[in-house]
Amino acid sequence: MPLIERIHALEILDSRGNPTLEVDVIADDGSFGRAAVPSGASTGHAEALELRDGDDSRYHGKGVLQAVSNVNETLYEVLAGVEVTDQILIDRMLLEVDGTENKSQLGANALLGVSLAAAKCGADACELPLFRYLGGAHAALLPVPLLNVINGGAHADNDLDVQEFMLAPAGFDTFREALRAGTECFHALKTLLVDKGLSTGVGDEGGFAPQVSNAKETLDLLMAAIEAAGFRPGEQVYVALDVAAGEVGAPDGPPYRLPGEGLDNATSEQLIDWYAELTESYPLVSIEDGLGDEDWNGWKQLTDALGTKVQLVGDDLFVTNTERIRRGLSEGIANAVLIKPNQIGTLTETMAAIDLARSSGYGVMISHRSGETSDTTIADLAVASGCGQIKAGSASRGERVAKYNRLLWIEEELGETAAFAGVSAFRQAVEH
Ligand code: PGA
Ligand code: ZN
Repeated sequence: MPLIERIHALEILDSRGNPTLEVDVIADDGSFGRAAVPSGASTGHAEALELRDGDDSRYHGKGVLQAVSNVNETLYEVLAGVEVTDQILIDRMLLEVDGTENKSQLGANALLGVSLAAAKCGADACELPLFRYLGGAHAALLPVPLLNVINGGAHADNDLDVQEFMLAPAGFDTFREALRAGTECFHALKTLLVDKGLSTGVGDEGGFAPQVSNAKETLDLLMAAIEAAGFRPGEQVYVALDVAAGEVGAPDGPPYRLPGEGLDNATSEQLIDWYAELTESYPLVSIEDGLGDEDWNGWKQLTDALGTKVQLVGDDLFVTNTERIRRGLSEGIANAVLIKPNQIGTLTETMAAIDLARSSGYGVMISHRSGETSDTTIADLAVASGCGQIKAGSASRGERVAKYNRLLWIEEELGETAAFAGVSAFRQAVEH
């Protein structure tokens, strides 16, 4: 098998114009892999460390030249000559060289760039598409795309407290048709917003960021858009939320501040009652980060109250970390896990988080970050893992649609062996 010959990182820009890393891995047979690292805005406090220079004379302190040099010098020296297909060993070596719990020595961004680029180089060496290399001969399940069509919270300048309102076009036979439906609803939504004199400028994840006042008004707009596009809400197209509650309260939990919802100073119980109401009134299949990163007691109550009715996804709660997921499993907290490779730092740890969640009957959703690049690794990861769900933003902004377009190509390549996850993707979590 080919050996790693060269590793080279470069400071590039992400979709918000902030610096990030892109890494090349080249093997001695000429195989090549390139990967870029995303970056969050509403980050969980327990995420692995994203190393930034803090030099105010460059990019307001957000440069990543130190992480780049950690790749080009330290990590290159360690990994030169290692078999490029030996992903577990490569990732283990990355962890050993860093040597810290939260990747603060070299930076999770440095580690992830190398880890993903090595995987892509390994796929190239095997002359396989990435999803096949990572997922094997049986990887053929296309995920339901969750399109974040209305942006609020930390991703937009409007007054909406809830960060993401997503369309989940699950009631279709193929990914292609599901994406078309979601996109047509997005366009219908634009027309509705224009008719109401509301802004159609988009937020960080490509969704609209209109000055609507609260979640019910927004969900009513989504229902109207689905119908205007000619689809049936709750049968073909569903809705999902990411509340990112850790952003509207302390990470520890209450009080939660959602003034637009009339919940200025809310307890966990009040939020849970509100979610119960929303779940009764709308075809809501998934609520992410309904409570804060460390509000484990509140999460337990939330799961007891709604865990058999709706998918409850832990993002900032679990941060793609098997230790935190294990705690959730043992305490019966949440019923699904959001997966973001840069929350943990290596591909092997990411796969371990997916495997742990799936083998325990939890739902799994692969996710982009609000700061993205044109890198499409997460699309392949969704098919490789067969997890059935991906959120990669709206049907706008190049760095968002790049992931959906990659899934269209994977479906095309798979031909008649391709399957689409459909509504069963959301059932796993509530029925487990
Ligand atoms: P982030 O947001 O990438 O800004 O963290 C995405 C999310 O909260 O799911
Ligand atoms: Zn989230």
